[in-house]
Amino acid sequence: MSTSPTRPAPSPTTSASAPPGGRLAGKRVLLTGTAGGQGEAAQAVFAREGARVVGCDVQPGAAEATAGVLAAEGLDVVGHTVDLADPVAAARWVDESAARLGGIDVLYNNAAGAGFAPFDQMSLDLWRHVLHVELDIVFHATRPAWPHLLATGNASVINTASMSGLRGIAPLGQVAHSAAKGGVIAMTRSLAAEGAEQGVRVNAISPGFVTSPATDMFVGDELREFQMGMHLIRRPGTGFDIAHLAVYLASDESVWVTGQNFSVDGGVTAGFR
Ligand SMILES: NC(=O)c1ccc[n+]([C@@H]2O[C@H](COP(=O)([O-])OP(=O)(O)OC[C@H]3O[C@@H](n4cnc5c(N)ncnc54)[C@H](O)[C@@H]3O)[C@@H](O)[C@H]2O)c1
Repeated sequence: MSTSPTRPAPSPTTSASAPPGGRLAGKRVLLTGTAGGQGEAAQAVFAREGARVVGCDVQPGAAEATAGVLAAEGLDVVGHTVDLADPVAAARWVDESAARLGGIDVLYNNAAGAGFAPFDQMSLDLWRHVLHVELDIVFHATRPAWPHLLATGNASVINTASMSGLRGIAPLGQVAHSAAKGGVIAMTRSLAAEGAEQGVRVNAISPGFVTSPATDMFVGDELREFQMGMHLIRRPGTGFDIAHLAVYLASDESVWVTGQNFSVDGGVTAGFR
């Protein structure tokens, strides 16, 4: 039950054409995990669609570097080194970014750490670590961003979950990872419910196996082969496969879409062949 005054919903989409300046023209975007992979791809696609983007990453200097490449093309992108596992640092980044942009229209929680082990070998420390670097960091960025998003009145939060939040896959040793990503999906729905009246939409994207600096480094040939065998479309996803849905969710094209989890996963959660 709501206790706040009812706000008019954002206008329905009535135009068949993209706004001048791109599908995200003028959108003020905070995007996490922009050192590489999906975050770097989304940063480029968002900026080319007219968004103003502030990125961040825990890897020293890496968000600055990827943003610098786009800024050199004249796009409005900056990046900062931030460890979102530290709630104080996360809040500082959010507030300083909101001040720089004059508000926040889109928060894209893409960043996550990782940790895997078969459950009979999983320590309490590893369990807590994974929940901290995959689920807590979404809270750390979203909580300080929330008042800025509510103030905007037509805002979008995009959370990156995973196929692992939707299905068990024994060989991946992913009990903690799937609990964290399942938490991201559940958090998405509840935030959508709380934000709807004030014009904040919240959706999740659940990728399948995607090529990234992390998967390139840690996933060997055998595991890669196993992963591909599960996907109906037998190739790894790319950051751009994910970013194209994220543009839709960030844009006003999706003003009637909230509380959903979208699988972009080569069909891995649909079936097998
Ligand atoms: N690659 C896949 O197969 C896959 C599958 C499903 C879901 N995902 C999810 O997609 C998202 C993007 O991952 P990716 O595929 O680009 O891989 P990635 O690991 O290369 O990218 C994640 C980025 O987040 C950054 N990061 C991690 N912890 C951080 C912290 N505490 N503070 C700031 N930045 C931090 C990393 O440095 C990295 O640049 C993640 O949420 C990941 O869990 C990935």
